[in-house]
Amino acid sequence: MDLEKFLTEAVARVQSQVPVPKRAIIAASGGIDSTVAAVVVGRALGERATALFVDTGLLRKGEVERTREVLAGAGLEPHVVSAGPRFFEALKGFTDPERKRKLIGETFIRVFEKEAATIRAEFLVQGTIAPDWIESGGSAGPGGPATGGSARDTIKSHHNVGGLPSDMKLRLVEPLRDLYKDEVRALARLLKVPDPERQPFPGPGLAVRVVGEVTPERTETVRVACAVVEEEVERAVKEGQIPRPWQYFATLLPVRTVGVIGDVRTYGDAVSVRMVESLDAMTATALPVPPEVLRRIAERITRELSGKVTRVLYDVTDKPPATIEWE
Ligand code: XMP
Repeated sequence: MDLEKFLTEAVARVQSQVPVPKRAIIAASGGIDSTVAAVVVGRALGERATALFVDTGLLRKGEVERTREVLAGAGLEPHVVSAGPRFFEALKGFTDPERKRKLIGETFIRVFEKEAATIRAEFLVQGTIAPDWIESGGSAGPGGPATGGSARDTIKSHHNVGGLPSDMKLRLVEPLRDLYKDEVRALARLLKVPDPERQPFPGPGLAVRVVGEVTPERTETVRVACAVVEEEVERAVKEGQIPRPWQYFATLLPVRTVGVIGDVRTYGDAVSVRMVESLDAMTATALPVPPEVLRRIAERITRELSGKVTRVLYDVTDKPPATIEWE
């Protein structure tokens, strides 16, 4: 793919989609896709685009600071909106994965609409890439809703596609819609976006890693477990024990199991650890991991979440038949 050509055409396309003097807000999560989209749109619209970073309360440890750094490294200064309580309130009582995804998609849009109104923006820029709309059961039409009239099955509604509310007024601008992850990473390298090889993190955040009801407490449990997995994987990579996986994380399961600490019975949660190899997230292979790496992860998770998590499992399933995230 000719990246320079893609870039020139993408900038021109955005300029014709958002004519002067109209304004856009950019949904910037700090991930590769939305950061690259933000840089492209920044080139196209300059001051007419405002980057917005929503703290959903579903972010990983240290993510707010890290995102600010990444966006600053890409020449963007985002406006940060703290919306954690709003997301938890929306998710309260729900356990169905698709319902959760749609509630998250809708809450994002309501937050964006409120912010857009204050600066009179009519457009919303998203870093949607091809697998997002493919898995949401959609069609390839530019910015078109990924629902209905499609021969594709909905595997999961990505929050930024199938999770959008039908009454949203903001018009979508999605400059990376036809690209796959490896192409976005190549574009990120060309644009000097910091750390283009870092692992993907789903837009709905830790909510898709809390199987069952998403509460602040359960989210905090998986946040700690994900941080342990990230730290231990990075250590194992540095020590040459494993190659850097495409993605590595923990998921909190809705299963309680019996444990013992000293001679006292405990009854706590189970956590699954997943490490996968992939090229474009459309398929993935579970990584074979040396037992000592897994044992260290299990030991740290059960110690740092003592009494809360009694069991750690390793997920050996490929995609297909599983998907990368549990929900
Ligand atoms: P799955 O779980 O479908 O995930 O195999 C494929 C890749 O996409 C990420 N993912 C998402 N990314 N919004 C996103 O921006 C979403 O709703 C979403 N759901 C999954 C997942 O982490 C993996 O990299």
